[in-house]
Amino acid sequence: MRALVTGGCGFIGSHVVRGLLADGWEVTNLDKLTYAANPANLAEAEGHPRYRFVQGDICDLALVRELMDGADLVLNFAAETHVDRSLLEPGVFVRTDVEGVVTLLEAARARPGTALVHMSTDEVFGSIPAPGEAAEDAPFAPSSPYAASKAAAELMVRAYAETYGMAVTVLRCCNVYGPNQHVEKFIPLFTMRALAGEPMPLYGDGMQEREWLYAGDFVEALRVVLRELPAEPGVHAVHIGSGERVRNRETAELICELLERPRELITPVADRPGHDRRYALDSSRLRARGWRPRVPFREGLAATVAWYRDHGAAWAQTASGEFARYFERQYGERLARR
Ligand SMILES: NC(=O)c1ccc[n+]([C@@H]2O[C@H](COP(=O)([O-])OP(=O)(O)OC[C@H]3O[C@@H](n4cnc5c(N)ncnc54)[C@H](O)[C@@H]3O)[C@@H](O)[C@H]2O)c1
Repeated sequence: MRALVTGGCGFIGSHVVRGLLADGWEVTNLDKLTYAANPANLAEAEGHPRYRFVQGDICDLALVRELMDGADLVLNFAAETHVDRSLLEPGVFVRTDVEGVVTLLEAARARPGTALVHMSTDEVFGSIPAPGEAAEDAPFAPSSPYAASKAAAELMVRAYAETYGMAVTVLRCCNVYGPNQHVEKFIPLFTMRALAGEPMPLYGDGMQEREWLYAGDFVEALRVVLRELPAEPGVHAVHIGSGERVRNRETAELICELLERPRELITPVADRPGHDRRYALDSSRLRARGWRPRVPFREGLAATVAWYRDHGAAWAQTASGEFARYFERQYGERLARR
């Protein structure tokens, strides 16, 4: 079986590519190699007889059509993914996260034999007041340009499914964490700052709740989904949530504890605009299909923090100049004003 994976050099995509290769798939990885990619995430796949890397853009219809030829499955993980950056430069989010998805849909509609699975996010629902959980049919209420671009992509998926009778599976996942994630994201950023003994900039009161899923548990969930991909026309949404909801301050404190660093490094800074307070998915449907997350948050966090302690310097070096400029733009003034 052949899979076209997009965004395989990013965080989740790299775990997925490794999982598919282990399961015997032939994998083509289409990745533009933006600042968020790290080819080292897939170093061990290089040279694998069933693995091929193609550098390119999911917005390139001719290329996407060519790569879809002969593919049984397309898994879309290519995206601009950092909420904070979407506040600074929303245009690139519309391009990749909306136009890119339309390009994939356009190529896939001519190939009824190719199953399309698109990765979306719990952020399309906006903030979910406690003790609520968003079910698959909850209304969209995105708060950030990132979340709005993901919601817009989902609406295009729906339009294609209705118009052309396509069957598309949409995965809406909670926050994923683990090795291979860009150092700009919350857990790697706070781990790297703690390791360096530098202030860890915590937005607002730090009481925002996030639902955390270990990357390996995401791959297991995907395996369950792939066992039975619905062929009936329509959008088949699947919620993948761990149910483990933790306040950001508590996560920051756990990182300090794991690295034996003082909690005083945690530095409250001005919140980001439109910051959602709480995400919570109802993933009972997927659980009814036999999936359960296996890695508790404390355990997964310890493994992740240990991974960044051992590999973080190489990641930070990959990201160095661009990341330093981004960090200054996003946090420089906030940290100076605290
Ligand atoms: N990380 C999370 O916690 C999380 C949670 C829910 C949903 N998601 C979704 O999962 C998907 C993957 O997220 P991630 O955290 O692995 O992202 P990431 O930022 O780590 O990786 C994205 C990858 O996509 C590639 N890419 C970007 N634009 C491209 C383009 N136009 N053409 C081809 N490749 C391109 C990048 O080079 C990079 O390798 C995204 O759709 C994201 O919205 C992520």
